Amino acid sequence: MTTSHTLPPGPGGRWGINTLLAFQRDPLTFLTSVRRSYGDIARVRMLGRDVVLFSRPDYAYYFLVDHAQNFSSGASRDLLKRFLGEALLTTDGEVHRRQRRLVQPAFHRKRVESYAATMTSQTQQMLDRWQVGDELDMAQAVQELTLRIIVQALFDVDLQEQGTAISQLFTTVVENNRPGPLSEALARLNVGPIKRAQAARASLDEFVYGLIAQRRAGGRDHGDVLSMLLEARDEDGAPMSDVQLRDQAMTLIAAGHETTSNALAWTFYLLARNPDTYDKLRAEVSEVLGGRTATAADLPQLPYLDAVISEAMRVYPPAWTVNRTALEPFELGGYHFPAGTRAIISQWVIHHLPEVWGDPETFRPERWTPEFRQQLPRGAYFPFGAGPRICIGMPLAEMEARLLLATMLQRFTPRVVAGWPVEPRPRVTLRMRNGIRMRLQAAAPAATVAAAHAPGPQPGKSA
Ligand code: HEM
Repeated sequence: MTTSHTLPPGPGGRWGINTLLAFQRDPLTFLTSVRRSYGDIARVRMLGRDVVLFSRPDYAYYFLVDHAQNFSSGASRDLLKRFLGEALLTTDGEVHRRQRRLVQPAFHRKRVESYAATMTSQTQQMLDRWQVGDELDMAQAVQELTLRIIVQALFDVDLQEQGTAISQLFTTVVENNRPGPLSEALARLNVGPIKRAQAARASLDEFVYGLIAQRRAGGRDHGDVLSMLLEARDEDGAPMSDVQLRDQAMTLIAAGHETTSNALAWTFYLLARNPDTYDKLRAEVSEVLGGRTATAADLPQLPYLDAVISEAMRVYPPAWTVNRTALEPFELGGYHFPAGTRAIISQWVIHHLPEVWGDPETFRPERWTPEFRQQLPRGAYFPFGAGPRICIGMPLAEMEARLLLATMLQRFTPRVVAGWPVEPRPRVTLRMRNGIRMRLQAAAPAATVAAAHAPGPQPGKSA
């Protein structure tokens, strides 16, 4: 293919004010419509700068895997750094590689499996406080639960009554940091929502510095991530400073609960809208577990549970874009791009491409057969990213989402309260605009579910 030095097509005119407003208003619809109108490579002008949207599976693979070393993580430039400092999500190159090697042992398979009991016991404690007939915001409930789990699993601390307040502080930070160039510009002014986020951040800092100070004072090795970080030495033999420890810990706590809770909240929503899928899943869970507590060893026996969560993360990917910045010029799709080009690769867009998925708007876990997984093009499905920066917490998140869902469905059937408007609210993760108000019904007794369940594929319903 010959390389063109013209720019790819796309919206925005000279200053890109309308595109900026459209992006800020509804980034998911905006990105989808850009791809539909301008194709697989589209240049979007916003606030006098270009970003390029790449919307083909092989392009995703190009940025994230094959040519990963030629791009820095776009995250390092945006608001994340303000909150998370210099840690895994926000550093590049050698610094990033060193940090990744350091933290990796916490996510090895055996280690991750050792977190299973914390996951199910925290979930059961939450369920013990619930009663049939209760109404609650499921998004908030699972956010608090996943926060309690990550803090206990990685930092050996049971949050107890502090959990609700800390979870709300994270919500304040995330809700008040809108993605996009306008927010990046406003961040410097420290007004309005940014000010609220900064205040919440200061309280979270206090909490994390408190964890570090307590651990230093105790002096005992807990065999957890915090002890690992405290033991770590750089090439000169120096330990991490409190600020470095804070950045690592805050990154793991934030990244370690926000996305997983989004995945669960969207899964509950999809199950409530698709009762056949719910029945089939409940039957599988009853048959395999028979009411007992799920363990990591049970998960391979629960293929439908696996398919439901895979499909939920396709339809509503908790991380809806990854961003990259070119370190050197590159050529792709017949275009030449200079160093500094900012690329957006969107899970939301690629997970909904009709030419890949056929019926992308349909929630259909049945599509996730082993053959389907095998023939899926590389880069078509990447809820956890891919390549050297693939989510370090993926094994933990995958296990956690499955264990929590299996545990919760054995006790309750959550139904969306009639008329409750459920809409995506894309922040750094794909949240819900108004949360999701659900009423708890008793879980159907196992025998009834099994009898009601006819084997074989279920018809898909619109998501
Ligand atoms: C459903 C749950 C999760 C989803 C969808 C998710 C998604 C992602 C994605 C897409 C990336 C790559 C970002 C990029 O390439 O720029 C990422 C990176 C990361 N995730 Fe997750 N994540 C989840 C759970 C977790 C958990 C449980 C943890 C920690 C306990 C975690 C910690 C991280 C960290 C530290 C990185 C940065 C890795 C690096 O750059 O080397 N995530 N995650």
